[in-house]
Amino acid sequence: MTTSIRRTWLPFLGEDVPERCDTPAKVAAFELELGCRALGVPAPALETDPGMGEGYAIRGADGNATVAGGETGLLYGAYAYLTAKAAKKPLPEGAQKPFWPLRMINCWDNADGSIERGYSGRSLWFEAGRLCWDGPRVRQLGRMLASAGLNVLCINNVNVKGQAELLIEDYLPELARLAAEFRPFGVRLMVSIDFSRPLAHGVGTADPLHEGVQHWWADRADAVWQAVPDLAGFLVKADSEHRPGPFTYGRTHAEGANMLARAVAPHGGVLVWRAFVYNCQQDWRDTVTDRPKAAYDTYAPLDGQFDDNVILQVKYGPFDFQVREPVSPTLYAMPNTRLALEVQLAQEYTGHQIDIYAMNPLWRELAEQLDPGTVRAVAAVSNLGRDDNYTGHPFAAANLYGFGRFAWNPWVEPIEALRDWARLSYALPAAQEDALVGMLLSSREVYEKYTAPLGLCWMVRPHDHYGPSPSGYEYDLWGTYHRASRDAVGIDRTRRGTGYAGQYPEAIRDMYENLDTCPDNLKLFFHRLRYDYVMADGRTLIQRIYDDHFEGCAGAEAMADALATLQLPEPDRAEAAERMQLQIRNAREWRDVVNTFFHRLSGVDDAHGRKIYD
Ligand code: GCU
Repeated sequence: MTTSIRRTWLPFLGEDVPERCDTPAKVAAFELELGCRALGVPAPALETDPGMGEGYAIRGADGNATVAGGETGLLYGAYAYLTAKAAKKPLPEGAQKPFWPLRMINCWDNADGSIERGYSGRSLWFEAGRLCWDGPRVRQLGRMLASAGLNVLCINNVNVKGQAELLIEDYLPELARLAAEFRPFGVRLMVSIDFSRPLAHGVGTADPLHEGVQHWWADRADAVWQAVPDLAGFLVKADSEHRPGPFTYGRTHAEGANMLARAVAPHGGVLVWRAFVYNCQQDWRDTVTDRPKAAYDTYAPLDGQFDDNVILQVKYGPFDFQVREPVSPTLYAMPNTRLALEVQLAQEYTGHQIDIYAMNPLWRELAEQLDPGTVRAVAAVSNLGRDDNYTGHPFAAANLYGFGRFAWNPWVEPIEALRDWARLSYALPAAQEDALVGMLLSSREVYEKYTAPLGLCWMVRPHDHYGPSPSGYEYDLWGTYHRASRDAVGIDRTRRGTGYAGQYPEAIRDMYENLDTCPDNLKLFFHRLRYDYVMADGRTLIQRIYDDHFEGCAGAEAMADALATLQLPEPDRAEAAERMQLQIRNAREWRDVVNTFFHRLSGVDDAHGRKIYD
């Protein structure tokens, strides 16, 4: 069957995968046949070597090549072969295998079909309280995930709300069918669960040390794994932003997580427990409590107490996916715990998939600052939805693809991941491809400059998190303050201040505490500085704030010019152009609101006499 599925970075795979392709090895053979025919290149032979697991090796010369691999390794090898051919690159040399065994996408999809922080339409598999989906689209997504090397898909929101009773008998046949759709692509499902669920089923408590609770979860796990024998595990958000959790019963998070881990262990499942715990009811007058300290304070003392099949999933920064944050100190503090690194493809704070914001440069920085071997898994909040192009902005697909490349190799050069995506997706003439890749590579810095540079966080409009509102979170709950006054801005997080910097290993702590070594882009995260503070480049802090906002906005305008020169295929061209108009409006709004805010507070004029609104 030929479907009218929208092009992705695998434009050469035009036909739906037939039902007979019910294993990764069969999909690999099908894709190679189809892809090599479309590309006009000889198809390699396939050779199964079960010992290779997810790994593969491409041997022999063109016309006589063999892809060898374990069952899913064959699939990854087939995509690697096709990718190299389509992108006109050399074939990968030697044995290849993924750096992290669990490479997870966390969807924040609700049972009613809406998506929390979703910017690309409704859920691909929920509607009106039930699981339902469009087969060809789900298989297309399976191919996309497999070709990017991703292998776990958590289908529902960590805030388990409403009817999402995925664990009860009534739902299980649908869950089993969805798992069967993804299985041939080497993608295993995971589900988010509600810690307090036993209460809704007559158990009377959700105390993790209560036997009735333990039995209820063990029975649920038995039923779920009977329906989906290869389910990857459960994902839990507990005691966070009004979610229930073990604190209600005076239990630790190790006790809560271990109870669930023991229910899933007999089935080979993992229990992913999120470390996003903080006081979201903080009084802004409280200048002692410092939100970034919360995860470390809660979890570091529990290091070594979690069962082997618990994975503690930690957001990469101590706040919440801001434009720039330092690496979370929790990630350095728990050598005896299996950790997962959590990133966010959904552009909640980074432009809602309207503004261009490519993430590989951020992830590369994480790999440089944190030995990737410290964590055992990687997870990304999904940017997927039912929009024809899956990601709202056609370029936001680069983040899904690029995340897969990062998950396989945390040191992947951002330019390599982004160029491959651009080449596979569009096959533009060389100069245009360079312009597109250059635009993507600089997009983070541009966005950072026109929104919240120098480590300033949380100047976003409350709740929806798009657009500027410098005081929006200032006199409120949530613990997210910059405390700008007429003289100074920023929080002293050194040991003389809130003590946050003291949570890092000594060398990192000292680097951040010392104003001379603290990088400019995190200066106001770690320090409270007067507007007349002179930065390393000789400019005052207030001048840097003005300059960065003007430069960021100019950067967005330059991106618009570059975009206009690209001969992108439709409808990508029209969609990107339309969103660029919105991005420019957003960038100007940020520039003017933030500069005016600081000008009114400080009374200091811009050294270059540019327009600031008083
Ligand atoms: C942020 C986000 C929420 C989300 C939460 C989480 O606070 O705004 O929508 O639920 O992160 O990661 O759990």
